[in-house]
Amino acid sequence: ATHKLFILPGDGIGPEVMGEVEKIVGWFGKQGVASFEIERGLVGGAAYDAHGEAISNSDMALAQAADAVMFGSVGGPKWADVPYSKRPEAGLLRLRKALGLFANLRPAICFPALAAASSLKPDVIEGLDILIVRELTGGVYFGEPKEIVTLEDGQQRAVDTQVYTTSEIERITRVAFELAKTRRNKVSSAEKHNVMKSGVLWKQVVTRIHKAEFASMELEHVLADNCAMQLVRWPKQYDVIVCDNLFGDILSDVAAMLTGSLGMLPSASLGAEDPATGKRKALYEPVHGSAPDIAGTGAANPIATISSFSMALRYSFQAIEAADMLDKAVTNVLASGLRTADIKSDNTHVIGTTAMGAAILKELEHL
Ligand code: NAI
Ligand code: MG
Repeated sequence: ATHKLFILPGDGIGPEVMGEVEKIVGWFGKQGVASFEIERGLVGGAAYDAHGEAISNSDMALAQAADAVMFGSVGGPKWADVPYSKRPEAGLLRLRKALGLFANLRPAICFPALAAASSLKPDVIEGLDILIVRELTGGVYFGEPKEIVTLEDGQQRAVDTQVYTTSEIERITRVAFELAKTRRNKVSSAEKHNVMKSGVLWKQVVTRIHKAEFASMELEHVLADNCAMQLVRWPKQYDVIVCDNLFGDILSDVAAMLTGSLGMLPSASLGAEDPATGKRKALYEPVHGSAPDIAGTGAANPIATISSFSMALRYSFQAIEAADMLDKAVTNVLASGLRTADIKSDNTHVIGTTAMGAAILKELEHL
C-alpha cells in the first residue's frame, strides 16, 4: 500500500529536524520497506509570511487527504506581534480541530544508553516503555461555563467546568485498549471518582467498554494523584495509561521527565476511525517547540521528530517492522556514544543535527 504522508516542517528547528526525517522516509521508500506519496506544506510563521495566515486552505485540504501528517514546530520571536488569530500556534490548533484529534499519545521510553545519565535511579527507568493516552478535546479546558465573574461584595469568582460525555470516554477508551493490544495488553485508567462526578462516569464507561470489547486484556483503575506518585516511584508497572485532558497534561509531563530531554520526546494525536477504511486521521510531532535559541546553529536533536515518524509507521501505516527497525537504529546510535548537545554526558561524542540523522540512517543500512 502507498501511504499518503503530508509534511509540515514549520519554523525554527522544525525544518532542520524534519530534513533528517525526510532522508529516512526516502530510504524506507528506496528499500521498498514501505511506499510513500509525499506532499509538503507550510505552517506557522512560515505560512504567515507566505499567505498571511498560519495555514492555508489548500494545505488544510492536503492534511485532510493524508494518512498521516508530520508536523515540525511553529513559532518564534519574529511573529510575536502577529494578530492572535493568525499567530503560528493557530495553525496547529486549526489542524487539531479540523482533523478531530481527540487522542494524544505520549510515549515515555528509556533508551538504555541514557539511563545511566538520568537523575533517577537506573533500575527505576531502565527498559521503561509506557504510553500515556490523553483525551485532548474535552474536559475542563473546554467545558462551559468558563468565566470570571465579579460578585456583589466585589470579590471575583473564577469558574472552569469539567464536562465529559459517554461517547467521549468510550472513544478514548477504545484507542487505549487498541494500542495496548499491540503492546503488553494492560490499560491503567487514571481518574478521581472519589471526588469528581466526571471521574465516576469515566470509571463506569471504561469498565463497561473493557468488559464488552476487551475482556481478555488487563484493566486497572488508579486515582490520578496516586498515578503521579507511582510514575515516579516505579513507572515500569504501567503499559498504557488512559486519562482525561487535565490529568493527562500533568501525567504526560511527569512521564516525560523520567526519560530526559525535550529533544527526545515524540507524540501522536489520533482522530476518529473512518468506518469505511478503518483508518484514523493522525498528526505526529515532537513535544518540543521551535527552539529559537538554537535554530540555525545545526545543533538541534532530530530524535524526537524521527521517533514521531516511527510512531506514524506503527500506528498509521501498520509498518511495524519498519518502526521497530527505526527504533533499534536510534537505540544503537545512542549506545555507540553519539549525542546531540542537549543529551550529552561523560564519555559521549557530541555531533549536530545532520550528523545524528546520518548516523541513524547508516545504522538502518546495517541492521
Ligand atoms: P522549546 O521546546 O522550543 O525550547 C525549550 C528549550 O529546549 C530550549 O532551550 C531549546 O533549545 C531546547 N530544545 C527544544 N527542542 C530541542 C531539540 N530538538 N534539540 C535540542 N534542544 C531542544 O520551547 P520554548 O522555548 O518555550 O518555545 C519556543 C517557541 O516554540 C515559542 O514560539 C513557542 O510558542 C513555540 N512552541 C511550539 C510548539 C509546537 O510547535 N508544538 C510547542 C512548544 C512551543
Ligand atoms: Mg503540558
